[in-house]
Amino acid sequence: MNEKPGLLKNYKIGVLAGGSSSEREISLKSGEAVFRAFQETGLNVVFIDVKEHDFSFQIDRSGIDAAFIALHGRFGEDGTVQKILEEKNIYYTGSDPESSAQALDKLASKKRFRDEGIRIPGYRLVRAGEDISCSDIRVPCVAKPRYEGSSLGLSIVLSKDRIRTAVDKAAEFGEEIIMEEFVPGREITVGVLDGAPLPVVEIVTADGIYDYGAKYQSDDTEYVVPAGLNEVEYRRAQEAGLKAHAALGCRGVSRVDMRLSDKGEIFVLEVNTIPGLTERSLLPMAAKASGMDFSQLCVKMLYGAFTES
Ligand SMILES: Nc1ncnc2c1ncn2[C@@H]1O[C@H](COP(=O)(O)OP(=O)(O)O)[C@@H](O)[C@H]1O
Ligand SMILES: [Mg+2]
Repeated sequence: MNEKPGLLKNYKIGVLAGGSSSEREISLKSGEAVFRAFQETGLNVVFIDVKEHDFSFQIDRSGIDAAFIALHGRFGEDGTVQKILEEKNIYYTGSDPESSAQALDKLASKKRFRDEGIRIPGYRLVRAGEDISCSDIRVPCVAKPRYEGSSLGLSIVLSKDRIRTAVDKAAEFGEEIIMEEFVPGREITVGVLDGAPLPVVEIVTADGIYDYGAKYQSDDTEYVVPAGLNEVEYRRAQEAGLKAHAALGCRGVSRVDMRLSDKGEIFVLEVNTIPGLTERSLLPMAAKASGMDFSQLCVKMLYGAFTES
């Protein structure tokens, strides 16, 4: 694709990546892949390695009209960057400040999902240092920080005597920790693009858990697209994806992580408003299965920046 796509050629585009969250390295990879795709497409594009304290000036100096946000985690995915861009009247990809903030906050998301009748695992909030020795937390369960991604600080707890260690590990990423019922079963994820679900992806890992190692380091993780679910499960997964995306009021793309229980029930875990965008990431994989290559996906996402919903 060497021809600049329509209206986009009139704009200077900034790919925003890096930042200082714990997902900086992954964001840089996403950003570089998107930047290359736009260069190959012939767009007027600059790469901006976001420095939180200098961000406003970085944007002013760059003279961009639109931002493709490839940041993950705090600052870039939690609505802060989106709010600053809105104040500067710069178009940007993805969800607005409120939806972004809600999605990155696993507790707020769960409340929304519950209100909308979306099935989620049972959970409770624990504070760092809280005495949990007499608590009714049952195992197996999952301990995860309230605000974090990439499975950072997350543990699967198989025995009661491991709860403390898991809480302390999650507490390294913040005061509030979510203790969630473990859902045995299969790992699936559904991308949503401009209001429609992409093909379901199943992730098959060595131990059934999509932790940091399985996400970024292991060669043993396999991806099945479209996932080999039966028709009913497949449809339910896509419906749950759409519903979760809408429940948080997301715009453009999102990727909804879920578990498919052994009984065939879908449990929504979380919505990622800025999913990984390397050429090997899950959303591009799902897009490809629907006939869209990486550049086409990025261009489509960029177009979304210029539309309201
Ligand atoms: N309740 C749960 N039951 C089973 N596995 C879980 C549960 N919660 C998380 N996991 C595992 O941990 C991974 C990461 O959890 P997730 O809630 O998506 O947080 P993150 O933002 O770190 O991706 C999931 O993809 C899944 O493999
Ligand atoms: Mg996840």
